[in-house]
Amino acid sequence: MAREARLGEAGATLPSVLVVHGPNLNLLGEREPEVYGRTTLKDIDAALRGLGHELGVAVETFQSNSEGAIVDRIQAARGKIQALIINPAAYTHTSVAIRDVILAIGAPCIEVHLSNVYKREPMRHHSTIADIVVGRILGFGAESYLLALRAAAQIANGASRS
Ligand code: DQA
Repeated sequence: MAREARLGEAGATLPSVLVVHGPNLNLLGEREPEVYGRTTLKDIDAALRGLGHELGVAVETFQSNSEGAIVDRIQAARGKIQALIINPAAYTHTSVAIRDVILAIGAPCIEVHLSNVYKREPMRHHSTIADIVVGRILGFGAESYLLALRAAAQIANGASRS
């Protein structure tokens, strides 16, 4: 069975959503809690899997501090996922490679940020992926991911039925 594929209760394969977290997000809960909150990445991933179960989508999560590892993981999902959720963290503002791999795999993508980057330094106002994603959710802390999963599940369920 493919890593992203899970069987639903009726035995049908559930649509798959991959959630990718970029650099330093492994430190959530300890890292600048006044900006990013006190929820850990482990808790966010568990909440995503739980919500995925409710919404009928299989959720796989991945975190790396390395741009190449993020590109490799997204490439590996090519043809296997119905939606991608990504918080590229600092790579949001610099990475052409992440933009290119999102375009290469062609899956609908939702961009997530915990903080409202527009209330922060100007360097955080630019995103290399803003114009190629379906939508962006930012500023709601850990809840940003759950809102994104609700949107992704709608897309993924639609995609798996068509
Ligand atoms: C972030 C915002 C980025 O500017 C920053 O580099 C991060 C986290 C967020 O989720 O608010 O690491 O993506």
